[in-house]
Amino acid sequence: MTEQRVAIVTGAAQGIGAGIARELANDGVKVVVADLNLEGAETVAAEIDGIAKRLDISDPAAVAQVVGEIDAEFGRIDILVNNAGVVPFTPWEELTFEGWQRTFSVNANGLFLMVKAVEPIMKRAGYGRIVNIASNTFVAGTPNCADYVATKGAVIGFTRALAGEIGKDGVTINAVAPGIIASEGVFTTGHGDGFDYVVPMQAFDRRGVPADIAPAVAFLASEKAEWITGQTLVVDGGHTRN
Ligand SMILES: NC(=O)c1ccc[n+]([C@@H]2O[C@H](COP(=O)([O-])OP(=O)(O)OC[C@H]3O[C@@H](n4cnc5c(N)ncnc54)[C@H](O)[C@@H]3O)[C@@H](O)[C@H]2O)c1
Repeated sequence: MTEQRVAIVTGAAQGIGAGIARELANDGVKVVVADLNLEGAETVAAEIDGIAKRLDISDPAAVAQVVGEIDAEFGRIDILVNNAGVVPFTPWEELTFEGWQRTFSVNANGLFLMVKAVEPIMKRAGYGRIVNIASNTFVAGTPNCADYVATKGAVIGFTRALAGEIGKDGVTINAVAPGIIASEGVFTTGHGDGFDYVVPMQAFDRRGVPADIAPAVAFLASEKAEWITGQTLVVDGGHTRN
């Protein structure tokens, strides 16, 4: 079994996930960069001495296969960061049932599949850290993405509920809820204009970047966060305050 701690970060080929992968690697963790985009995953993995895997988290067979490969190679999975997600910009009049289901298939169902596959490996070791990336849109009720906000509510509810069932396995599960962050995804999905009205509401007068989110995730993924589970930590430069 590998001595180093091993993490899977989904959706880590770019954006917030890539920032989290870099932070964990800096902390001495061997990071599996898992993403639909293999080329991007390989670029990030090469930079941090990690390994890249092509993975569609919404595909149950692919999740089982990739998690099995990682377990076979390393004999451990200490950390799972469920970051992969889609962030559609869809006003209510344009939101279809198909669109709603598409968003749920990745953000909620894919996250479920990852936890279902990885948690037994953590249970076997008596130790694990799961960090789910939610969103402060669930606090703010951000318009034009009701499907997305609903998935993030599902992530927070799941995090709260599962914590009580897997604590006995030595596994914590928490969520980090970022505010708007300058990722590749934000600018390609039409959310980039959001900075114009969000930045003035923040405590700090600048755009958030992936490196602003990564330290909170790394803390919750560390041994030091042993007494924290079922929680959601909002990391949004003071945009929302609860
Ligand atoms: N950027 C923001 O403003 C913001 C704010 C709050 C929460 N978030 C959340 O942070 C996470 C990352 O967001 P981002 O802005 O960095 O996004 P992004 O679009 O820049 O990157 C998302 C990555 O996930 C991958 N991905 C998408 N579907 C996948 C699938 N089915 N299987 C595997 N990989 C898949 C993409 O290929 C991409 O590399 C998401 O969960 C998002 O909801 C983002």
